[in-house]
Amino acid sequence: MNWLDFWNGSHSIYVCDKHRHCHHARISADIIDRLHGPTGLVIDYGCGEALFAQTVAKHCRKLILSDGAPKIRQLLKERYQGASNIAVLSPEDVLRLDMGSVDCMIIHSVLQYMPQADAETLLGSLADLLAPSGRLIIGDIIPPDHTIFADAGALLALAWQEQFMTKAVIGLVRTFLSDYRKIRADHGLTCYAQSEL
Ligand SMILES: C[S@@+](CC[C@H](N)C(=O)[O-])C[C@H]1O[C@@H](n2cnc3c(N)ncnc32)[C@H](O)[C@@H]1O
Repeated sequence: MNWLDFWNGSHSIYVCDKHRHCHHARISADIIDRLHGPTGLVIDYGCGEALFAQTVAKHCRKLILSDGAPKIRQLLKERYQGASNIAVLSPEDVLRLDMGSVDCMIIHSVLQYMPQADAETLLGSLADLLAPSGRLIIGDIIPPDHTIFADAGALLALAWQEQFMTKAVIGLVRTFLSDYRKIRADHGLTCYAQSEL
């Protein structure tokens, strides 16, 4: 099993619905902040469940959601089938878009799940899609000194703020006993120092 299989399966990264909801609400608010106003074509690459895509889509002409996991794409297609300015594309289809056609590309919490060589190739191809004034926004890059305890601490801090502490503790134990720990041990996460990135 690799990382994409993990995301394509039924994982328990979100410890409860409240966790899933507030994670995606915060990500979408951050994306909207960084769009700096109405934007043309926006791509959220490795978007995951993108629960608030309709909110983000109000700030752009068109929002393309792309994820490598077929199961996630199917879920997104069903969820957003009535949304006129949201499209769901595979990563391969994203690379077939016109060069220079994309105004903003978001890659949040994705690069850690692929080897550095693949990330370099991917970023090169995605950069070709950007308009001259287009922007590439990369987030949640894991620094080399990062530990699994930092992840646990971040979850507990969020759980404290959003009041789902008991479920967070149970979820951490569940994650510790799940495929996640094995995949993380086998495949690791690709880390980058800021200067290296
Ligand atoms: C941690 S989730 C991040 C989801 C969302 N961007 C967020 O910040 O909540 C990682 C996502 O990246 C996707 N992903 C992983 N490797 C990928 C790849 N090589 N190409 C496209 N998507 C990928 C996974 O399927 C998963 O949905």
